[in-house]
Amino acid sequence: MQARKIIIDTDPGQDDAVAILLALASPELEVLGITAVAGNVPLRLTQLNARKICELAGKPETKVFAGAIRPMVRPLVTAEEVHGKTGLDGPDLPEPKMPLQEQHAVDFIVETLMVEEPGSVTLCPLGPLTNIGLALVREPRIAKRIGAIVLMGGGFFEGGNVTPAAEFNIYVDPHAADVVFRSGVPITMMPLDVTHKALTTGKRVQAFRKLGTRVGDATAQMLDFFERYDEGKYGTDGGPLHDPCVVAWLLKPELFSGRHVNVSIETGSELTMGMTVIDWWGVTKRPKNAQVMRDIDADGYFSLLVERLGRL
Ligand code: RIB
Ligand code: CA
Repeated sequence: MQARKIIIDTDPGQDDAVAILLALASPELEVLGITAVAGNVPLRLTQLNARKICELAGKPETKVFAGAIRPMVRPLVTAEEVHGKTGLDGPDLPEPKMPLQEQHAVDFIVETLMVEEPGSVTLCPLGPLTNIGLALVREPRIAKRIGAIVLMGGGFFEGGNVTPAAEFNIYVDPHAADVVFRSGVPITMMPLDVTHKALTTGKRVQAFRKLGTRVGDATAQMLDFFERYDEGKYGTDGGPLHDPCVVAWLLKPELFSGRHVNVSIETGSELTMGMTVIDWWGVTKRPKNAQVMRDIDADGYFSLLVERLGRL
């Protein structure tokens, strides 16, 4: 069976890193490129971290592009308190030897979508949607050529994680998110409502360590660092492993369940800026624009992660 072509748009970030490792370990997926965006940490670090992870995976031939240095309208908000000042605190990964691509990430996304067979490429945003929003504005014709967008972002029943109303990825660039959710592109959304059910418990982190590989050890070190912020906030054993849900859905959609509903983005009120207003009960006539996931087989998810990362 032909591999599914994907572009990963990302702001690594330890959870982004695990998502990238999962994708690079999975022959069902062909990673056409990785596009970095400002988010968890500034762009100069997210593009560097993306390359560090590709080399950790033993895939230095992967093409990594730098994209937007800030959101479309609002100033950049970062999350060093969660991810550390490097954005990838935990393991000590060497400076990458692989090059950063010259082409701007947004140009790469547009060019790839205009050249590849319509509908054959899936976009996998794991951070603020700035690159995707800019690409849709730069070349509106890509909306009909994108096969699907499978993204991590938003929240509803769980509320927000950066304000009471908003999840980080959407909060950082609500205007880009608004462009994406109004684009008409088929969207599958992994909100906090599902990622908060996938916690990096001590037992699950130990399973990565037991791999006895460089990737297993680095992953355990990343998760040990990454989880401490949410453990302190929520009082849980482990923190939510958000971004790999996107890649896991591509590989084993049966691990997830959800509903096709309308999702609208707040871009007016400072109080609820970046809120994903999810019409879960269908009380409005707003068009259904996203398959929103709410449940996950968490044990199956972590088993997939350990098995696949064990291949690297
Ligand atoms: O709110 C969680 C999201 O914000 C994840 O993608 C994490 O990496 C950060 O970008
Ligand atoms: Ca991310």
